[in-house]
Amino acid sequence: MSVAKKQYKRITTKSLVEMKSNGEKISMLTAYDYTMAKIVDGAGIDVILVGDSASNVMAGHETTLPITLDEMIYHASSVVRAVHRSLVVVDLPFGSYQSDPKEALRSAIRIMKESGGHSVKLEGGKEIKESIKRILNAGIPVMGHLGLTPQSIYKFGTYTVRAKEEEEADKLLEDALLLERIGCFAIVLEKVPATLAQKVAESISIPVIGIGAGGGVDGQVLVTHDMLGMTHEFNPRFLRRYLDMYEGMTTAFKQYNTDVKSKDFPNESEQY
Ligand code: KIV
Repeated sequence: MSVAKKQYKRITTKSLVEMKSNGEKISMLTAYDYTMAKIVDGAGIDVILVGDSASNVMAGHETTLPITLDEMIYHASSVVRAVHRSLVVVDLPFGSYQSDPKEALRSAIRIMKESGGHSVKLEGGKEIKESIKRILNAGIPVMGHLGLTPQSIYKFGTYTVRAKEEEEADKLLEDALLLERIGCFAIVLEKVPATLAQKVAESISIPVIGIGAGGGVDGQVLVTHDMLGMTHEFNPRFLRRYLDMYEGMTTAFKQYNTDVKSKDFPNESEQY
């Protein structure tokens, strides 16, 4: 039986929950700037994540830890100016919510007020429950993030698949149930076994959006620069490349270099 797709003028947190109950998969991609966000929004992607992966992708840091709240607000406000339909989710960066719930709320308020983003995302479960509750009580929608949580990379030690063992898988399911219970509107599940991810998605009514979590979840998210093939050195199994922009851009830059040096550019029709 085919599912009738509802046309959403603007995606809201409610639309995402509705999509899950209608069996419609949710698409999500990252963007950190106006130009990219305009293309992603115009292509009909449901959710734009202003991820703290900007720390790696835009700034060249090894981890997501160095990016600041001010930098996230800068990226998010550029994205928000471009968007007409997508829901914009903004990551709370490392150090802006872990110390106490009041600080978490202050950071979330700054993001909402100064960037115009529509919601925030925080990494973790039970440990940050009070912070999430405080943010939700202020009327700010929260997306959770479980599984591989890159802000804790120095605790994990590696970026390998999480929750392969029963104890960690059980905790992850408990955390997902908790995030649903306290009022998160969705959860990102990163790099966990597909069977576990499907079990989590089937156990809760809010959407589970996977990255490296298989096809049994309610939606998929990728880092846009990775799926466009701009980042050659990053090759996880879950990544599908839709373009080879690294090659395409290198060819264009080389041609431009040749044209400038050979005085082929600009020609008569390209000048005043
Ligand atoms: O920051 C980010 O891009 C993310 C995605 C990997 C989900 O959190």
